[in-house]
Amino acid sequence: MNTDLDKLHPYPFEKLNALKNGLVPPEHLSHIALSIGEPKHPAPPFVKQVLMASLEKLSAYPLTKGIPELRKAISDWLCRRFKLTAVDAETQVLPVSGTREALFAFAQAVVNRTNDPLVLSPNPFYQIYEGAALLAGAELQFLNCTEETDFAPDFAAVSEETWQRCQLLYLCSPGNPTGAVADIPTLQALIALADRYDFIIASDECYSEIYPDEANPPPGLLQACAELGRNDYRRCVVFHSLSKRSNLPGLRSGFVAGDAAILSSFLRYRTYHGCAMPVPTQLASIAAWNDEPHVRENRELYREKFQIFQEILSDTLPLQMPDAGFYFWADIRPAKVGNDEDFARELFAQQNITVLPGRYLARNSDGINPGENRVRMALVAPQEECRDAALRIREFIQTALRQR
Ligand SMILES: Cc1ncc(COP(=O)(O)O)c(C=O)c1O
Repeated sequence: MNTDLDKLHPYPFEKLNALKNGLVPPEHLSHIALSIGEPKHPAPPFVKQVLMASLEKLSAYPLTKGIPELRKAISDWLCRRFKLTAVDAETQVLPVSGTREALFAFAQAVVNRTNDPLVLSPNPFYQIYEGAALLAGAELQFLNCTEETDFAPDFAAVSEETWQRCQLLYLCSPGNPTGAVADIPTLQALIALADRYDFIIASDECYSEIYPDEANPPPGLLQACAELGRNDYRRCVVFHSLSKRSNLPGLRSGFVAGDAAILSSFLRYRTYHGCAMPVPTQLASIAAWNDEPHVRENRELYREKFQIFQEILSDTLPLQMPDAGFYFWADIRPAKVGNDEDFARELFAQQNITVLPGRYLARNSDGINPGENRVRMALVAPQEECRDAALRIREFIQTALRQR
């Protein structure tokens, strides 16, 4: 067997199942999952219609590069959304079967194993970055994202030696789980570092369409390039998905876009990997990328749920609004119920609500675990369920405080 497989950590949800094992929550309370970041708002009906109407296309093998119409719809969307003037649909865009597989595959394609490779990742982080780096034969270095660093990596604190070894930097903006958004000056400073030390920036932007202020959408890495006049997007690749934007996690549809030379090698890798998107999925994806009203409605639903949570919990567990995304990265210390695992275990046992302990999404680095004393709450359930969850969390904390 590939011995690198032994380096992989159990996935957070395996740890969560072990934590809940043997606990029996009250029967009269229905279960509410705030643990998994799986959108639950309805998928757009017009996307489902296109999918069903194109099923006869299943009789042909799809091309890894996708159909030109999809690449064109994606490049048009990128230009509209990030104010870009030019994205070459032929060379600067590739469809992927969800960003999860693409974020993983990307490291396999770009890491040079023969050159003492180092990959940098935020901490806490989307778990795929770690598995991707380790299976690509790279060492992984974590950049802690804490309250002191505004929940983003402190790039200024990274040593010269680390930058010199860095081949690939995973960025996650808006961040999962912290919700922090990297601004244009930060992105441009990273582009300058990438030039200076010759590394690739993989910017995971799959939460970019879930944000609180319609007038203030999160910027993206390609936008930061374009504002520098860098229309070849050299060393930069972005990852986008329909899963969160359009409530289509089961469609498995996303794209990568950016540096044509990198994408050309990535396409070569993908041809062998064998992960072409079925044509009906591509046609449904075109319909989704071409429509914005359903995305605005989606944001409105999240806005309402964030407000409900904040209002109900204001006096027991004050929650900081994320810059974007659909998670609260909640500091649980005011609840005085112990650490992140204690909080998650007791909340499940007493109120039948599942949240994810923060440490399951982070690693010890520089003597701390940035997930300590935090839990991730995904506001994906329908509004009434979210209201019920907030009320039950309040009851749980008030009971704990009374017992002290
Ligand atoms: C930060 C981040 N990136 C990527 C993904 C993968 O999304 P998908 O494969 O559905 O595009 C997720 C899913 O939860 C995520 O949280």
